[in-house]
Amino acid sequence: MINFWANVSPSNRCGGCHHAGGQSPMFARSDDVNLAYQAALPLVNLSDPSQSTFVLKVGGGHNCWVADPSACASTMLVWIQNWVGAGSSSTTTVKLIAPPVRTAGNSLQFPVDPSAFGSTVYPIVHKYCVGCHNPNSATAQQPYFASDNLQEAYLAAQPKMSLATASANPDTATFGPNGTGPGQYYQDQSRFYDRLAQESHHCWGSPPDCVASSTAMHEAIRTFALGITPTQVDPSLKISNALALTDGIIAASGSRYEANLVAKYMFQTGQGSTAYDTSGVSPEADLSLSGNVTWVGGWGINIGPGGVAQASTSASAKFATMIQGSGEYTIETWVAPNNVTQTNAWIVSYSGSNTTRNMTLGQAAMQYEGLARSSTTSTAGMPPLITKTTGGAAQAALSHVVLTYDAVNGQKIYVNGVYTGDADPSKGGSFANWDSTFALVLGNETTGQRQWLGVIKFVAIHNRALTAAQIQQNFAAGVGQKFFLLFGVPTAWTGVNQSYILFQGSQYDSYSYLFDQPKFISLDPTAMPANLSISGIRIGVNGVLAPAGQAFTTVNATVGGSNYTAANGQLLSPLGTVVPATLGPSNDLFFLSFDQIGTHVHAYVEPTVVATPPAPDNTPQPDFGVATFERFNHSLSKITGVPITDSAVSNLYGLSQQSMPAGPLIAAFGPSQQAAISQLAIISRQ
Ligand code: HEC
Ligand code: HEC
Repeated sequence: MINFWANVSPSNRCGGCHHAGGQSPMFARSDDVNLAYQAALPLVNLSDPSQSTFVLKVGGGHNCWVADPSACASTMLVWIQNWVGAGSSSTTTVKLIAPPVRTAGNSLQFPVDPSAFGSTVYPIVHKYCVGCHNPNSATAQQPYFASDNLQEAYLAAQPKMSLATASANPDTATFGPNGTGPGQYYQDQSRFYDRLAQESHHCWGSPPDCVASSTAMHEAIRTFALGITPTQVDPSLKISNALALTDGIIAASGSRYEANLVAKYMFQTGQGSTAYDTSGVSPEADLSLSGNVTWVGGWGINIGPGGVAQASTSASAKFATMIQGSGEYTIETWVAPNNVTQTNAWIVSYSGSNTTRNMTLGQAAMQYEGLARSSTTSTAGMPPLITKTTGGAAQAALSHVVLTYDAVNGQKIYVNGVYTGDADPSKGGSFANWDSTFALVLGNETTGQRQWLGVIKFVAIHNRALTAAQIQQNFAAGVGQKFFLLFGVPTAWTGVNQSYILFQGSQYDSYSYLFDQPKFISLDPTAMPANLSISGIRIGVNGVLAPAGQAFTTVNATVGGSNYTAANGQLLSPLGTVVPATLGPSNDLFFLSFDQIGTHVHAYVEPTVVATPPAPDNTPQPDFGVATFERFNHSLSKITGVPITDSAVSNLYGLSQQSMPAGPLIAAFGPSQQAAISQLAIISRQ
């Protein structure tokens, strides 16, 4: 009732339809909470809340109350976790489910070059859809597949086109769900096609003709698909099944401690100008992104000059109410500062102006600072807690930065799970004088005068001071969208049912993926692998072995015995590697190749690199030369009488000599030699 029903029953949420006498299941009925409870039970998965029907249904776009279904799914998950765990920590363990079987070979991939799209589908969408799906249109509507910029249009169009189904021959293809007869509906799973054929979304012609429009769209996608050469994998390789990153099992919220959330931002929406608060604690303090703020791949926002993310003052009032009540708080972030020179740069602040605040976490060059208004500090939160200069706490790299506050210690800062050791000069106090009219603001001050530059991947505000152990737990849980990728390998090779190589995969940034910690695991809990040799794992992308980032070629493991457990499998390598992205996370298709798996061996041949020596440089060189730096040193010694063994001279000579050209080439003589020689002359004179 408290954690779930109270949140879903209002009529602007699920109660609008799933109320008493309304749409069944009536889990949101307000007349009898016991009946609502009975209706809700079959729709939650107690052992794995993330797989609950509620979460999947809402995440799939069913009546989400904000614009982004993934935000509703995350919020729904928090409510269910709080219910199931009775408000304790959410210690979800991820359940592995076998992915659909896909083969690496013979698959159609979107070509990198947009020109084929430009001559097939693009002319249609740019003609008929440009009125809205173009960023320059007065009624601009994402996705921008009709952009004037072909590359932008192509990237936006890819998720809306299905190459596999579109390539089927229309003359022999089975006809569509409506069964309206040949030539009318193709079995084309492209959204572009469906929107016209099934949903009559802006068909063209006068009067608009959805049959003709959808047929033309289908033909264009089909022509585009047929023009792509399928990628064939080298048949001699011993390879696993194939997976795209997004075929993996989402492992985002595994094992985080979140029993006292006030707000939580995961930045998973990826487009638009709102970052949703998915803490499930109402009112949601959603952030409006304004100025120079862009989304980054794999969840996050990038704050550029002039950028800010800010919640409304009315929704932000919950911070004052909930934190004044507990007398404690934690600001938890995953951030990557752009540089370590910015000062007076606010990462997260709950404040009203440059000089009035309740709480702030900021960066001051290589230090982090915390400001808190309390009975022991000023209304500006002075004096601040600032980490020591020698610590170099702030680095221009992705870090888990946490500021806690409790009434005894005041503020404490933890970076990557470790307490910086800096004590708050003001100690703790009470929050009686907090101001509830302030706003939560990220990357700046409400005045726009405390700009911070960098990437923010996660922010949570808790109304307790997390303990060191809880902070370490959240640090270990990591950040961003992570997937468990199960690469199937044939039972015939391993002798084990349902054999998989399990990787943790994530979108590292907009340009690459991180593949981490491969394990061997069987989804059959009774499986007992024995003496199974696995060596030389290579990652393949879109039909070919990736040319770089092959960190697992040295794997040489024997799976079985006490090293293998049914729950965790067996770790093959503790390493991770970064693989470049080419077609994006839903289209790049990965597979693994093995030098040996069981008794099956493929001797990997290192590609022979034919080193062509560079052509000799026959440009005529001048006959004149200059003395080398060594000769200058000797000459100066002769002239001045100061021996070259003199310590000042030899030190300076040693320092400069390595950067000077070794030969007497006149073409190599530059200002740096002149400077070095005059330095030598000066030091000899002294
Ligand atoms: C506008 C009316 C409406 C609202 C609002 C609504 N639903 Fe539904 N819901 C339906 C209808 C109609 C169905 C049956 C058809 C279907 O499954 O989509 C349904 C079915 C469901 C089912 C499927 C039950 C099953 O047994 O598979 C679930 C789960 C569900 N809704 C959850 C929710 C949740 C959670 C919310 C609140 C976020 C919500 N719905 C809000 C209309 C609504
Ligand atoms: C008059 C404005 C307008 C025009 C013209 C228009 N659209 Fe849309 N389109 C929208 C709006 C609004 C949305 C978002 C709401 C929705 O999903 O219906 C949208 C969303 C979409 C989406 C994304 C959502 C999804 O279901 O996948 C696709 C695909 C799409 N439109 C296809 C097209 C195509 C193809 C054309 C040209 C034949 C077109 N649209 C022309 C207004 C327009």
